[in-house]
Amino acid sequence: MKGVILAGGTGTRLRPLTKMINKHLLPVGKYPMIYYAIEKLRVAGVTDILLVMNNHSASLYTNFFGSGKDWGVKLAYKIQEGAGGIAEALELAESFVHPGEKLLVLLGDNLFEDSLANYVKEFELLPEGAKVFLKQVDDPRRYGVPVMDGALIKRIEEKPEHPSSSYCVTGIYMYDSSVFSMIKAIEPSARGELEITDVNNLYADKGLLTYHILTGWWIDAGTFPSWYEATDKLREYPDPGNHAPTPGDGF
Ligand code: DAU
Repeated sequence: MKGVILAGGTGTRLRPLTKMINKHLLPVGKYPMIYYAIEKLRVAGVTDILLVMNNHSASLYTNFFGSGKDWGVKLAYKIQEGAGGIAEALELAESFVHPGEKLLVLLGDNLFEDSLANYVKEFELLPEGAKVFLKQVDDPRRYGVPVMDGALIKRIEEKPEHPSSSYCVTGIYMYDSSVFSMIKAIEPSARGELEITDVNNLYADKGLLTYHILTGWWIDAGTFPSWYEATDKLREYPDPGNHAPTPGDGF
């Protein structure tokens, strides 16, 4: 399975800091925010990773992470010009993923506790489809909100005024390689973006969108309160019980 981390966008909710530096490079504990997504993929056994970023701070990413070797992964980079949406950023991964290969996609501002290792193994065995990860939240109106039907998701509503449940769709997605033809089939939304929710709804329409509910904490660190919360949670990372390698230790 290939890994894709999306770190484009404008980070408007974290201004003025994000006028100076890209959101995903803001410090969270000892590391830049994006480190945790790389680490989640590595621990799940997904080490071939594409990082999609914008021009802002691009050289800082490459200076810090380089080829990925010192971080236990193999990194490739692509630039998204502008901020035309999450699905537009994901489309840049098309040449990185071979036909028939699956991909695990993380939004670079999503920080979470659960390990994805078992879900990666499970999803690898499926013939086709997509999977999203859900979390119960206080204010679902900020997110994509799923309508579930047994083991499937029937529909996702993006930032609904009247959410139909208290679950949100997190920025953790698994796809088969048909995701790229799905992206080509969608149109920009009212806010002018290619929405990942529209892509997911194409899978849902075919009865191919499954879900898993996260049990640990999950944070979309795209606002000041949630960034502070993430910093608090990850202050001690890696903790003594976590055997994540430390860069420079020659792992
Ligand atoms: O965090 C989960 C939520 O993320 C989901 O519940 C929503 O369904 C999904 O649309 C998304 O909503 P946000 O409003 O939080 O998305 P945002 O614009 O903040 O972008 C999230 C990440 O996606 C950001 O950290 C980088 C990446 N991104 C975003 C845009 C708009 C890109 O790489 N390129 C882009 O053009």
